[in-house]
Amino acid sequence: MNLKYAVIGYGFIGRRHVKTLKSFAESDCVAVCDINPLRLKEVKELYPEIAVYDNADQLFDKTDVDGVIIAANNNQHKDLVIKAARAGKHIICEKPVAMSVRDLDEMVAEVEKAGVTFTVHQQRRFDKDFRSVKECYDQKMVGDIYIIKSSLYGFNGNMHDWHVFKEEGGGMLYDWGVHLIDQILYMVNSRLISVYADIRNVINKEVDDYFKIILRFENRVTAEIELGTYILSDRPNWFERHWYVGGNKGSMYADKFDPSGKIVRTTRLLENVPGDQEKSTASYGPTRSFGIPEPGLLIVEDIPQVDCEQMDYFTNYFKAIKGEEEFLVKIPEVRRVLSVMEACWKSARTMKSVDFE
Ligand SMILES: NC(=O)c1ccc[n+]([C@@H]2O[C@H](COP(=O)([O-])OP(=O)(O)OC[C@H]3O[C@@H](n4cnc5c(N)ncnc54)[C@H](O)[C@@H]3O)[C@@H](O)[C@H]2O)c1
Repeated sequence: MNLKYAVIGYGFIGRRHVKTLKSFAESDCVAVCDINPLRLKEVKELYPEIAVYDNADQLFDKTDVDGVIIAANNNQHKDLVIKAARAGKHIICEKPVAMSVRDLDEMVAEVEKAGVTFTVHQQRRFDKDFRSVKECYDQKMVGDIYIIKSSLYGFNGNMHDWHVFKEEGGGMLYDWGVHLIDQILYMVNSRLISVYADIRNVINKEVDDYFKIILRFENRVTAEIELGTYILSDRPNWFERHWYVGGNKGSMYADKFDPSGKIVRTTRLLENVPGDQEKSTASYGPTRSFGIPEPGLLIVEDIPQVDCEQMDYFTNYFKAIKGEEEFLVKIPEVRRVLSVMEACWKSARTMKSVDFE
């Protein structure tokens, strides 16, 4: 099977999608559509065999493709998904699939009418750092988990192009929040009881560049997601990615997308004996409660290393197209993520937590 695809939107991620479609035996990229002539010129130079179009209607009129990857600015997704559905094409849409739950529902109605496949490029479900934490969660490596912290900090305050315009779907909640929330919901299989969010425009006029989100689940897990693009630092890297997982049998920390970190357990906890000053001071350190455990009490293990890569998204996709597997990313899941994002905005506005499911 060699399915013919078109990529709509040939920017940062669209370029990658063309290469991906050409690299899989199941697919080819035969057309690209972009409203920017310079981008089309680039396609013509790099891939003379690919047909180029400057609008999606023409693409659907003139090209016989089986499917599309929609990789245009966020505010274009709705219109392009509806057009692709009406043209009877398989659809992969970039994240965030839509700007609102209501828009997504309209898109889904068209997709169902057309009977085409529809999924979303939430490929960060295959990030190694996330998979390592998910393995720890699934295997209960630190016991009953009460907190998961997922954070991402950028140092130079730089948001670019349309990402700084609200109307185009800019802002960090749409850009990264959608991945970070998706990872947590995909991992924590429980009813989400409440959502709290603090969302700020620290240096950007129109859009958010910092957020902290707290998700409280029925299974007693609390997830905290924090992102800032303007966390200035003198460190050499341009970003920091961190995870912390706390359970009643130990803790896990993981840093960077290609993660390094440890799982730390103790052989014996400092016992809490009321009035027993000796026991407390036996733990040395700056304060008694936060004292360092005595030597020999900690067991330290490497975090699990999971063999995966973002490209696994497409491996699943092509198996699913052939009916051999289910699509990993399902529309009700991305709808739930969008609903959480809407609850985040409500919480940020009211400064209160929002009841969820
Ligand atoms: N899954 C991921 O990890 C990931 C990473 C980056 C971007 N994205 C998503 O991909 C999409 C594009 O982001 P980007 O960073 O590549 O942006 P970009 O600005 O680099 O590219 C977008 C391209 O779409 C074109 N475009 C805009 N409207 C169009 C229309 N109606 N028809 C055809 N082309 C149109 C623009 O001219 C531009 O060339 C966004 O939805 C973004 O959230 C996803």
